[in-house]
Amino acid sequence: MSKPATIFIDGRKIDAFEGEKLLWVALRNGIYIPNLCAIRGKEHPSGSCRLCYVQVEGCSEPVTSCTLSVTDSLSVQTRSPQVDRLVKSAFELLLSHHRLGCRDCAKRKSCELLKIAKERGLKMKLTRLALLDQEAEVDDSAETFVFDRSRCVLCGRCVWICREVIKVGALGFSRRGIKRVVTTFQDVSLAQSGCIECGLCVEACPSGALYFKEGKKPAAAGQCSCRGG
Ligand code: SF4
Ligand code: SF4
Ligand code: FES
Repeated sequence: MSKPATIFIDGRKIDAFEGEKLLWVALRNGIYIPNLCAIRGKEHPSGSCRLCYVQVEGCSEPVTSCTLSVTDSLSVQTRSPQVDRLVKSAFELLLSHHRLGCRDCAKRKSCELLKIAKERGLKMKLTRLALLDQEAEVDDSAETFVFDRSRCVLCGRCVWICREVIKVGALGFSRRGIKRVVTTFQDVSLAQSGCIECGLCVEACPSGALYFKEGKKPAAAGQCSCRGG
């Protein structure tokens, strides 16, 4: 069993357990740290979105809180000029994968990108980078939901859920570098992919990339507990 630990987040004393990831401890205690790729229950966090930086006392460089294991007396600040700079750059990088246009987006009321922008005072627009994949197609072949890849920020939640929770594996990452995308095996349509339309990936998607068709939300959707906030 893990040993109890006392840590400090923004000067607040918090009870935790050694080895827990700092991000989950913060969220559990009502302290929001931006995050997109973190998945509760995933043993090795991908640490790919680079949004969850914190400043650790005694360290010169910020570290990602989803990969930072708690130790007794750990003391972190969720904000610092360095943290803010890194989060701003990471956020713009994510937006370079994400076609903007909140007005016609099905997820505009629950969008986590909007939440992060609001919390950190970031702009929902590209200033230094260009939109990468302007030709991304929309797959509406499934009966209950749509996959609009032009709004995908590559967080990987859908891939993990489909593989590890539902054990179907209809979705996966393909290609490398700036060409990296989430797609089906051999890029077939969702209708041909073996997808059972459980809807869990749609629920977990933080952006408007996966959304339910009008009146088509399946009963099982919303029952996955892999997200912590
Ligand atoms: S709806 Fe379920 S089975 Fe289909 S891609 Fe999403 S998680 Fe996989
Ligand atoms: S489709 Fe949604 S859940 Fe899947 S990687 Fe893209 S943004 Fe993340
Ligand atoms: S949530 Fe930590 S890097 Fe994405």
